[in-house]
Amino acid sequence: MVSTVIPVDPFDLVIFGATGDLSRRKILPSLFRRMAVHQTPSGSRIIGAARSKMNRAEFRKLAREPLAEFVEAKLLKPELVEEFLNAVDYVAVDAAGDGGWAALARKLDEKPGNVRAFYLSVAPELFGPIAGRLSSAGIATPASRIVVEKPLGHDLASARALNAELRKHFGEAQIYRIDHYLGKETVQNLMAIRFANALFEPLWNSHYVEHVQITVAESIGVAGRGAYYDKSGAMRDMVQNHLMQLLCLTAMEPPSKFDPDAVRDEKVKVIRALDPLKLSDTVRGQYRANGKDGSYLEHVGDPASRTESFVAIRAHIANWRWSGTPFYLRTGKKLSARLSEICVVFKHPPHTIFPQVDALRGNALIIRLQPNEGITLRVAIKDPGPGGMRLVEVPLDMTFASTLGPDGEMPEAYERLIMDVIRGNQTLFMRGDEVEAAWEWTDPIIRAWTEAGSRPLPYDAGSAGPIDSYKLTGSDGHLWREIAA
Ligand SMILES: NC(=O)c1ccc[n+]([C@@H]2O[C@H](COP(=O)([O-])OP(=O)(O)OC[C@H]3O[C@@H](n4cnc5c(N)ncnc54)[C@H](OP(=O)(O)O)[C@@H]3O)[C@@H](O)[C@H]2O)c1
Repeated sequence: MVSTVIPVDPFDLVIFGATGDLSRRKILPSLFRRMAVHQTPSGSRIIGAARSKMNRAEFRKLAREPLAEFVEAKLLKPELVEEFLNAVDYVAVDAAGDGGWAALARKLDEKPGNVRAFYLSVAPELFGPIAGRLSSAGIATPASRIVVEKPLGHDLASARALNAELRKHFGEAQIYRIDHYLGKETVQNLMAIRFANALFEPLWNSHYVEHVQITVAESIGVAGRGAYYDKSGAMRDMVQNHLMQLLCLTAMEPPSKFDPDAVRDEKVKVIRALDPLKLSDTVRGQYRANGKDGSYLEHVGDPASRTESFVAIRAHIANWRWSGTPFYLRTGKKLSARLSEICVVFKHPPHTIFPQVDALRGNALIIRLQPNEGITLRVAIKDPGPGGMRLVEVPLDMTFASTLGPDGEMPEAYERLIMDVIRGNQTLFMRGDEVEAAWEWTDPIIRAWTEAGSRPLPYDAGSAGPIDSYKLTGSDGHLWREIAA
């Protein structure tokens, strides 16, 4: 199966922070891949913007470097690289000062018909100043788009302030808040599976779903970005955004149409229906040293830090569909594998004619985001052979790599999201009220942890987190899935 590529309109994408890490690793390689499949029409431009003084040739040299590292060799045909670099330009702009804005305005005025998008790949303190300058310098038109990415605030108050600052200069329909998890093929397939098939939706409720597990596990620690991470922690860095977005897509009601606001309205309703978290619904952890690699406390350079590198949560959604079905969320650093998945575990059959059924784990729909994106349905079948009626559980596998075939490419989340910005489709982006509602749910428990003054529980690097996270699910008679790639 080969995916269809529908070209977008010609665009000017200005990347503020074009010399930084996110631009190098994700934005530029993603744009190259989309150009390589002819999704970006000629006349489109990628305009780097940062303080560093550089001319166009120097920035092109800089933009070429990450291609070798982050783009598959078979795509790096010399003529494609040339075409890409021809579309790349640069303007030195100081987001916090006056320098460069007039030059940027002149550059954009060369192509007034192009879709204008501004990707703010800079520290969040610069979001407001850049939005303000774009507006006061007349660079942002009513049709321009502005793209921002986490951290979108540190708590509810700062998220509100950031939203207010952006909305002073851009309408909500112009603001694209990226959560790159939403750009993953599998996450969109979760919606397709639920709303394009008659099979699952009748079972998608507390009558048939025993519990749901959402795991985002990382095998790396925080070494190298300890100072940033220690001010944030797993709850702010992962739960408030990525895990809650996955929770929303899993639990939301079917929207009346596949339209940005219809989908986002349903997601906000899920967040608003979440019961407030109690301390007993959460387990926090901090990894300790295992072998020569240091501990969390060593990595952040603060032996007294109480920031969590792991959190497990039992959430309850107080509505008709989900009352009584726990949603367990867990995320952490230095766990046994890098794995992101949603697992919907169904109840056992109400009556069984096979005694072994109770010993089985039951039906489960496993939506795996990484590694090996794909969806698996766990079903019980008869163990083949003449040995009597014994049952085994097997996966019905919908791994996309095999569906797409050897030449099928799964686009990177950023590729899809950037193309959606150009198309003007906000469905996979977070609306301001969603971000605020998520902080409203996470803030009280972060405050409660601080007030309780307790330390996160230690766990071994390379494990599945603190043993207490197993007690959280175990007290309901449930078991976390293994964290294995
Ligand atoms: N890296 C990631 O994987 C990742 C993932 C998710 C979110 N983010 C977020 O994305 C943002 C950028 O992250 P990053 O890792 O790319 O940071 P980074 O490597 O530190 O890059 C920062 C960029 O901002 C530019 N810059 C700094 N001050 C500026 C100013 N006053 N005016 C114009 N440009 C300025 C820098 O270039 P000059 O010094 O030349 O000005 C550089 O290009 C951050 O908010 C981060 O939290 C990053």
